[in-house]
Amino acid sequence: PLPPPFRVPLPLPAVLEPVATTGGVDRYEITQREVTAEILPGVRTRLWTYGGTFPGPTIESRRGRPVTVSHRNELPVPTVVHLHGGRTPAASDGYPTDLVLPEGWSGGHGEHGGHGQGHAMHDPRAVTTDLTRDYTFPLDQRPTLLWYHDHRMDFTAPAIWRGLAGLHIVRDDAEEALGLPAGPRELPLMIADRAFAADGSLDYPSLDPTLRGRPGVREPYLAGVLGDVVLVNGAPWPVHEVDAARYRLRLLNASNARHYELAFVDEGDGRTVEFLQIGADQGLLAAPVKHFALPVAPAERYDVVVDFSRFPVGTLVKLVNRLGSGRTREVMAFRVARKAADDSRVPAVLSTDLPTWRRSEAVRTRDFSFRAGRMGEDGGHGWLIGGLPFDPARSDVTVRLGDVEIWRLVADVHHPVHLHLTGFRILSRGGEAPFAHDGGLKDTVSLRPGESAEIITRWEGYRGRYLFHCHNAEHEDMGMMANLQVT
Ligand code: C2O
Ligand code: CU
Repeated sequence: PLPPPFRVPLPLPAVLEPVATTGGVDRYEITQREVTAEILPGVRTRLWTYGGTFPGPTIESRRGRPVTVSHRNELPVPTVVHLHGGRTPAASDGYPTDLVLPEGWSGGHGEHGGHGQGHAMHDPRAVTTDLTRDYTFPLDQRPTLLWYHDHRMDFTAPAIWRGLAGLHIVRDDAEEALGLPAGPRELPLMIADRAFAADGSLDYPSLDPTLRGRPGVREPYLAGVLGDVVLVNGAPWPVHEVDAARYRLRLLNASNARHYELAFVDEGDGRTVEFLQIGADQGLLAAPVKHFALPVAPAERYDVVVDFSRFPVGTLVKLVNRLGSGRTREVMAFRVARKAADDSRVPAVLSTDLPTWRRSEAVRTRDFSFRAGRMGEDGGHGWLIGGLPFDPARSDVTVRLGDVEIWRLVADVHHPVHLHLTGFRILSRGGEAPFAHDGGLKDTVSLRPGESAEIITRWEGYRGRYLFHCHNAEHEDMGMMANLQVT
């Protein structure tokens, strides 16, 4: 039975301490392992975790101060770690075939649409051990909320579903000097839906539940896997006691496929409450923007400030999902617990370093379609970019460092499109000006059904092989990903 809403306290993921600092580089260690935890009251759920918890531990970093995260894989399958939104050298960016192999792993499935090789597990000649991998992140980028998650070829969606996701916050002095709500009044909120079987296990329609053989999901789930339980920081419909003061909420939609339209509702009078957006995927906006609701696609982050001082003590303020139905209409709640002093502020100017690339600077315009199609030898259902399913052996797009480009993206159904390495700005949607929530620097753009959008970016950072893909995690696993070679 599902718990009643707003009873479980909101968990806050622990902040990881570095194990060492050498030459100005902080070193962290995370062991990926299976645990059981109580997510729904009274039942045990088996999870795949970073460091034993879901979400994994939060890493807090300073802009321009590099960190190394050493991941050890004690799970039964290979894994790949990607820092989403990080400006990361290719060797540490988590390319889907750059595997961290578990103890005793042998072989692997084929490049695509692989077939089971369970029998090979006992072939001693094929056994390799990798177990750990050091990922180095320079973090020479605007401060923002990043997240790290699994990115293994063909199996990203079920691995994230099982719990392989955590937060990584980048900060700097300029942002801290603004006086935004901080400390206990800054809350990271990782929102993710999940489905549970009667015995408490996570329910995911994998063709091969060992995640070692054949990738993919059962037929009814090709469009994406949704759950009927909404978790925030790993807890179902939690509640958090707040002061009657401003809070900075760092929203992340870590769901595989679910879209949200988030709004704050005063439970007493049913009124929808206005709030301020201060940041997007890649950091602070130039100036705050008022909203009553915010659509949030998978992988998008929004930085918002809500002022709870406008409510009497005792008020329950619900965070709701206007796109949900029944229990998925609710996300979590805030209970205004006490009056309190508040010296935080939201300045009229938040940042002055947003790139302002102009159309006239673009050296080229490229077009990409994101559409359903056929893939693999059996011509099964796939999700394709420009008519092709992902192939690590193919070169798709080659760009030059320093170039400004415009990309025109067109979708059949909803596709949240994510670019590795670089942030971009949204130029237009459906030929019109972008929405009020499209401002700032983005790394994921939510293409709506039938929509075409233009984005503009300058390729900056590092040379090497990167990716762009749909962040509906099931679409990504079913081919909707392409190679981006930066030269
Ligand atoms: Cu959030 Cu390619 O990833
Ligand atoms: Cu998609």
